[in-house]
Amino acid sequence: MNSEIMKCKRCRLHETRTNAVPGEGPMDARVMFVGEGPGKKEDEKGRPFVGRAGELLNEMLLHADLSREQVFITNIVKCRPPGNRDPREDEKKTCSEYLSRQIEIIKPRAICTLGNHATSHFLGVGEMGKRHGRTFQVEQMTVIPLYHPAAALYNPNLKGVMKEDFLSLRKILY
Ligand code: URA
Repeated sequence: MNSEIMKCKRCRLHETRTNAVPGEGPMDARVMFVGEGPGKKEDEKGRPFVGRAGELLNEMLLHADLSREQVFITNIVKCRPPGNRDPREDEKKTCSEYLSRQIEIIKPRAICTLGNHATSHFLGVGEMGKRHGRTFQVEQMTVIPLYHPAAALYNPNLKGVMKEDFLSLRKILY
């Protein structure tokens, strides 16, 4: 599927991308993290969460005694929206077919959505408010909404909350 994603032209995002970013991690990962879409660094490298938000994600994973090598990391849209604008409804809808196939193959025990876009894809609502760190059953998937690491870069108060959520994630997984 990665080669299919890499040459995908199903939506307008292919026109401005450098590299598509299918996602990475073991095909039998217990947990899948789903972000919004690649940023500048990710577009350059073809890998998810390799910029500043990615550094914070790595830190959170370590805090929960999880390593990047253990988890599968991907995004709702696999190509960078130009200028990091929000992905549009039609782009999310078209691209999420790849995500569904990834979930079907990997069969993760839990899907952690990072931020509002990924959360609303699964739950229909995006606001984190009281939802973050909790477990939701959606069509036989276990979904755990988490704050997007970029949100904690802008609002350092969120870092402590994220740490707690990641710790509880570990307990759910093991
Ligand atoms: N933000 C995202 O949502 N995804 C990435 O891959 C990088 C930053």
